[in-house]
Amino acid sequence: MERVYITGASGFLGRYLLKYAPKPYRVLGQYRQHPVRAFQGHVQVVQQDLLANDWKPLYNFAPQAMIHTAAQASIDACQLHPDDAWEINYRTTCKLVDVARELNARFIFLSSDVIFDGQKGDYQEEDPPVPLNVYAETKVAAEQYILEHHPDAVVVRPALFYGQSLNGRPSFTEVMYKNLKAGKSVYLFTDQYRTPVLVNNLATALWELVESDYQGILHIGGSQKVSRYEMGLILCEVFNLPRDLIIPIPSDQANQAAPRPRDCSLNIGRARSVLKTRLLDVRSGLNLAFH
Ligand SMILES: NC(=O)c1ccc[n+]([C@@H]2O[C@H](COP(=O)([O-])OP(=O)(O)OC[C@H]3O[C@@H](n4cnc5c(N)ncnc54)[C@H](OP(=O)(O)O)[C@@H]3O)[C@@H](O)[C@H]2O)c1
Repeated sequence: MERVYITGASGFLGRYLLKYAPKPYRVLGQYRQHPVRAFQGHVQVVQQDLLANDWKPLYNFAPQAMIHTAAQASIDACQLHPDDAWEINYRTTCKLVDVARELNARFIFLSSDVIFDGQKGDYQEEDPPVPLNVYAETKVAAEQYILEHHPDAVVVRPALFYGQSLNGRPSFTEVMYKNLKAGKSVYLFTDQYRTPVLVNNLATALWELVESDYQGILHIGGSQKVSRYEMGLILCEVFNLPRDLIIPIPSDQANQAAPRPRDCSLNIGRARSVLKTRLLDVRSGLNLAFH
């Protein structure tokens, strides 16, 4: 394995994939509208709108593996603009999978934990997806296409990821921290549960998967199930911030465009057995990311 192509290199996760790219690889990172500075000599970047359907840069680079992170990752934007969401999240993914097959390249896809309906939580890889919104529908359709059309593929379902952004667009943990530090109240849901994963952990796990021969679905989350409210309280503890600024609210008060699952916590038993990367709890993750 020598060459790895990464879509969405300018995104929250994509920037970490570039940062942690192991030296033996030559990496080509694709971005669309947010230019990326290449971190190290073995990492190059290319401006490419994946909707333009021009796969020349990809054929020229001829990767042996691809990590596909580019997406409309906003759940509400997908609900408000479903045609655009299907175009980038599903149809473009199918085209990339076809190219990957043609090039004989391993394909690693970023799906999501929100493909479940959230009725039971602790979801395992075998549990059937039940999408509640357009974003989840596009991800499930893409998963199915990949698993049916490419034998050497991994469908990674990451939990909500958090950490320090490298792309100048603050992550939700940074927004929360900034507001609390400025003495502003932060309203957080008490009734939606996830197993948040530190973005650094997710990136190193994905690099492990490039190297491994694992095929099929893999759930990658942190080791702790929390609501956003509980996460806020942990953040206050870690940074010594006033916890009375965290205001608990039920999610139905938020007026979000798309319905969300109540509990899409992931069971990470398989990831623990497949990966060396230690998947951290929220307190350890925040300490590692910000101290
Ligand atoms: N964030 C989470 O907590 C979370 C949780 C579960 C799953 N995921 C999934 O994980 C993946 C990465 O998420 P993220 O938070 O890192 O996403 P992000 O920060 O929103 O980044 C999205 C990336 O996709 C690129 N992109 C979007 N439309 C494109 C197009 N038409 N052509 C080319 N590139 C395009 C963007 O490029 P430009 O910015 O340069 O335009 C950007 O690099 C996504 O597939 C997302 O659905 C995310």
